[in-house]
Amino acid sequence: MSVQKDIKRITTHQLQAMKQRGEKISMLTAYDFSMATIFDEAGIDVLLVGDSASNVMAGHETTLPITLDQMIYHAQSVVRGIKRAFVVVDMPFGSYQGNSSEALRSAIRIMKESGGHGIKLEGGSEIKDSIVRILSAGIPIMGHLGLTPQSIYKFGTYTVRAKEEEEANKLIEDALLLQELGCFSIVLEKIPSELAKKVAEQLTIPIIGIGAGPHVDGQVLVAHDMLGINKEFKPRFLRRYADLHTIMTDAVTNYIADVKNRDFPNEKEAY
Ligand code: KIV
Repeated sequence: MSVQKDIKRITTHQLQAMKQRGEKISMLTAYDFSMATIFDEAGIDVLLVGDSASNVMAGHETTLPITLDQMIYHAQSVVRGIKRAFVVVDMPFGSYQGNSSEALRSAIRIMKESGGHGIKLEGGSEIKDSIVRILSAGIPIMGHLGLTPQSIYKFGTYTVRAKEEEEANKLIEDALLLQELGCFSIVLEKIPSELAKKVAEQLTIPIIGIGAGPHVDGQVLVAHDMLGINKEFKPRFLRRYADLHTIMTDAVTNYIADVKNRDFPNEKEAY
């Protein structure tokens, strides 16, 4: 199916309509102006300013250290690069759990200061109050269930979630709750394909998967992973569409050699 680039701006209504007509939703992470511009011009539907910036941009081991100010900085850069995509900004760890007033303050800061179009937060019934409060301010929310990296120290590993019946049932209940509260979409991360299918079929809002199989309404990947910038990260669900690590290494190696050999700049490259 070709990309509908004639759509002026993607909205939550258009994402909903895509689910209804069976058009898959494409989503990628972006953290800076240049990449956001390229992805937007290619026709991506949703750009996620993910807290995975903590890993791939800042080099942290987990997503926990990134701050609200840092997320807003990344989101501002992405928003400046887009014309068409819907931009979702991750609420960082510590900015919404436990206290719904603080959650609303954080979400308002993201919307006001970054110009993003919606926010994403991790969890189900345990963060219900924060979700209700943020939605009451008219801010679109994308939920995130399954493997929720902000809870990595509770899980202990990044392995597939909800393989057992109890956790699978809780995930379905949480997904239904998020829809009932008014979330416009949900990301399901690293769960069995059949469970994701069940959720996508039961819910009317778009379900976006990462490591959740093909039966959901759209897919998201971390840009650095699908572009092959990270060599070490090789989960089964990841498809690499480029090997930028090799391309960039070769380019930089050649540049260094040209500088050392006095080959760059040549006469045509000088004033
Ligand atoms: O932060 C992120 O990149 C994410 C995706 C993995 C969905 O939340």
